[in-house]
Amino acid sequence: MDLSNDVILITGGTSGIGLEMAKQLAALGNTVIVTGRDEDRLSQFRQSHPGLSAYPVEVTDLASVETLYRQLVSDFPDLNVVINNAGLMQSIDFQSFAPAKVADEVAVNLAGPILVTQVFLPHLLKQSEAAVLNVTSGIAYFAFDKAPIYSASKLGLHSYTQTLRKQLAGTSVKVFELAPPRTTKPMFSGSEEDNRQVDRIPKMPIDQVVSTMISGIRRNRYEILPGMSKLLRLLGKARL
Ligand SMILES: NC(=O)c1ccc[n+]([C@@H]2O[C@H](COP(=O)([O-])OP(=O)(O)OC[C@H]3O[C@@H](n4cnc5c(N)ncnc54)[C@H](OP(=O)(O)O)[C@@H]3O)[C@@H](O)[C@H]2O)c1
Repeated sequence: MDLSNDVILITGGTSGIGLEMAKQLAALGNTVIVTGRDEDRLSQFRQSHPGLSAYPVEVTDLASVETLYRQLVSDFPDLNVVINNAGLMQSIDFQSFAPAKVADEVAVNLAGPILVTQVFLPHLLKQSEAAVLNVTSGIAYFAFDKAPIYSASKLGLHSYTQTLRKQLAGTSVKVFELAPPRTTKPMFSGSEEDNRQVDRIPKMPIDQVVSTMISGIRRNRYEILPGMSKLLRLLGKARL
């Protein structure tokens, strides 16, 4: 897939890594559609990127994802790439964390991408060349104890991505995983002490994460592990 004339949906594309993906993929000549939930951020995106499209969706909600699907297959019948980028990271101390919040990260990081993929898959399978890319994390492989449900949900997404790739082998749909390392776009908001520990880990600029993703897809590297993520995977295996 050369990523120059594709029609690409990016969930959670109004900020951070998703926004950087939108900019770089649009600059290559692709048609880019982003989603978000926050109406202000969506309209800000539309104003600053008039050539790109932005739609609201709640990735954890089947009805919302189905509404998006109906709009997009009508507005962009050639849609052929889905990037499941929307994600949520919470700092969690199991001794004090409210049980009611446990499901949030599992829903956004794991159930959300599965839902979006399942709803869009029939359409992708009709395209002559198509792809799904799931955004996991370096700490899927080497669990981060300060964000344990995040790590678990991203490891779950890694596992789902592997099985999806296997089931879709022989179809027109390629399945990729991008596992970014810690980046210049902060995600973790733990205590001061937690942050002091995290601050020892180098941050990769998000433009480099995204350019590594693009060259990985172009070379059919199905598991794209930029920067420190390769090391985290090796360390994770040694830890097991
Ligand atoms: N930043 C890092 O260092 C890092 C490292 C490794 C992996 N990652 C992964 O990379 C991805 C992007 O991270 P980021 O830091 O760039 O994220 P971000 O700036 O926090 O953006 C998250 C995006 O996801 C959307 N979103 C969140 N929950 C959603 C939901 N339930 N339904 C629909 N959209 C939702 C947000 O939309 P609204 O703003 O409208 O809610 C926003 O557009 C995530 O999957 C993350 O886990 C990030």
